[in-house]
Amino acid sequence: MVPSNEAEKLTWPKSGFDSDCNEINTLDIDSFLYNDDDIEEMVEAKQISRLYCAKCGSREVVPLNFISHSLSKEQIEFMFTKLQPDNVNRIVDLGSRIGAVVYGSSIFSNGQNKTIGIEMNKELNEITRKTVEKFGLKNVEIIENDLRNEANVLKNAELVVMNNVFSFFLSKADQENCWEFIKENLQEGTILLHHPEIEKATDYLDLSFKIEDWLEEIDTSVDCIEFAGQDVEKYEDISTIKKYIVKKIALDC
Ligand SMILES: C[S@@+](CC[C@H](N)C(=O)[O-])C[C@H]1O[C@@H](n2cnc3c(N)ncnc32)[C@H](O)[C@@H]1O
Repeated sequence: MVPSNEAEKLTWPKSGFDSDCNEINTLDIDSFLYNDDDIEEMVEAKQISRLYCAKCGSREVVPLNFISHSLSKEQIEFMFTKLQPDNVNRIVDLGSRIGAVVYGSSIFSNGQNKTIGIEMNKELNEITRKTVEKFGLKNVEIIENDLRNEANVLKNAELVVMNNVFSFFLSKADQENCWEFIKENLQEGTILLHHPEIEKATDYLDLSFKIEDWLEEIDTSVDCIEFAGQDVEKYEDISTIKKYIVKKIALDC
């Protein structure tokens, strides 16, 4: 039963103890009738709310989605200490934003990686360039352009990083166009580290090819366990980075 206070009219305290309570910011529920578990059940069933809008008083509030447009420090460390093969050092981050991946590539390889970030946003590139300079990060280049104008950079890459590059930034048609371009230009054997799994990022797009015909997924479960150990949260965070390799092009006879 949902508590109802229609049966009585409360006199809200105007001074002293509990005088911060009023009918907008307070829900009165007798503990004798409803314990904490009952209250939680009612919250989950959306019969009552623990929150109210401080502006209009509404209790019909829902949690916000939280979204990050950059990878976490741990995800970046995982990529460059576990997923990057020893014989690979030409790295390209497609959509480098504030440079998080680019910094990680330089730092975790002690400047041995040749790292290129491609980003179309001028302000973000200014931040990245200043940071690279300030910390003296080695072997880093930031290209300010739409990645679709950088075929040679893609062709020369040995390892490409993509963190949900398009969905918040381009129309569906442009996203499709970008994927067609990437498929056209990445060479056989190139490693693609993608966050999240690539199917999630491409499911709703109309592409001329199937992802599974283009890329082979590499099992990273041992790398994840070695990196995260017993830390479940860390494991969940890093295991969203997926590793693929561009397959040999099947020539039609
Ligand atoms: C989700 S952020 C990824 C940031 C970074 N790689 C990271 O993980 O920290 C995607 C970035 O890609 C850029 N972007 C999207 N489409 C692009 C395109 N066609 N060419 C260049 N940059 C692009 C956006 O401006 C945005 O900054």
